[in-house]
Amino acid sequence: MDLSTKLIHGGISEDPLTGAVSVPIYQTSTYRQKKLGQPGDFEYSRSGNPTRNALEELIAELEGGVKGFAFGSGLAAIHAVLSLFQPGDHLILGDDVYGGTFRLLEKVFKPLGLSYTMVDSQDLAQLEAALTAHTKALYLESPSNPLLKIIDLEKSAAWAKENGLLTIVDNTFATPYLQQPLALGADIVLHSGTKYLGGHSDLVAGLATTDKAELAEKIGFNQNSIGGVLGPQDSWLLQRGIKTLAVRMEAHQKNAETIAAFLTDHPAVDKVYYPGLADHPGHEIAAKQMRGFGGMIAFELVDESRVAEFVEALKIITLAESLGGVESLIEVPAVMTHASIPKEKREAAGIKDGLIRLSVGIEAVEDLQNDLEQALLVKNK
Ligand SMILES: Cc1ncc(COP(=O)(O)O)c(C=O)c1O
Repeated sequence: MDLSTKLIHGGISEDPLTGAVSVPIYQTSTYRQKKLGQPGDFEYSRSGNPTRNALEELIAELEGGVKGFAFGSGLAAIHAVLSLFQPGDHLILGDDVYGGTFRLLEKVFKPLGLSYTMVDSQDLAQLEAALTAHTKALYLESPSNPLLKIIDLEKSAAWAKENGLLTIVDNTFATPYLQQPLALGADIVLHSGTKYLGGHSDLVAGLATTDKAELAEKIGFNQNSIGGVLGPQDSWLLQRGIKTLAVRMEAHQKNAETIAAFLTDHPAVDKVYYPGLADHPGHEIAAKQMRGFGGMIAFELVDESRVAEFVEALKIITLAESLGGVESLIEVPAVMTHASIPKEKREAAGIKDGLIRLSVGIEAVEDLQNDLEQALLVKNK
């Protein structure tokens, strides 16, 4: 079955009780137990809720996992997965991961005894150099946030396996529609469901899945013990978003290809990062491991001092955190999403202060292009 069909019919796509084609919202915290000590399938909604359960089955099916887990945010999902590790363990991390992931490791897990090394994970030699006797996992984003670096997931996961490490992939930018890391050898896949999966900038959610029963058991234990679960309303809303993922992703990436070409040719734009461009260093790997090149673009202006003026002059494209919604969103990582990474670390990873990240929405592409054009031409008053 093609993934676009699974998006609609996968998981528990109808209510077993009534046949309702939209999974009902079970707005309940607890469930009656008919006999003492013999609960039914559901006992308490932190441990399990039928609406959340349907979403969890769906993400597992879409990513090829054995079990899925839904959380109150992407970071809560990342937290539950990083909690698999013990004090003394070491992780290797891509050097331009989402700023919140870095902050969680640096400010929460490092004081608890976890250590990590950030490397340019496109380069196997750098992974090799970062390996220690205590390294337990390789944590990757591809395409990465915000530089749209492409990591050869099959190669990296094979290297990790050879060295006895788990491979964890944050698949937020690609979504299972464009890329399925478990099939490429990863062990755990993470998502900020807030982004393309939800698709409408109206919820905050996180998802995790794995194809290993033993890991599923541990993540499930962490989900219930730490407790950052997704509520039934948002579980329902996220499933509704996922149904249209295929058509949205196709529209996002069609627009992104046009906008990337427009920006590349524009005299006020210096550099464009988009894996769909033939001169992007990860273009061929992306073409091999992804169904398309996605809807995210990053770029730099010739005159870095004009960044604020430019983003503030946009009329349709909205200056805001987040990405993956139907509306185009723009942001400056150094000031917004990646501000929690120290400037030296950011710059070493290639994230300049003037870098702009654009989440291309599904509006008419001419309107987006005209909006960019008028803002690129605005001069300081
Ligand atoms: C790649 C990536 N992973 C994880 C997260 C965290 O997700 P959330 O904001 O849902 O906690 C984000 C948020 O921007 C992200 O871009």
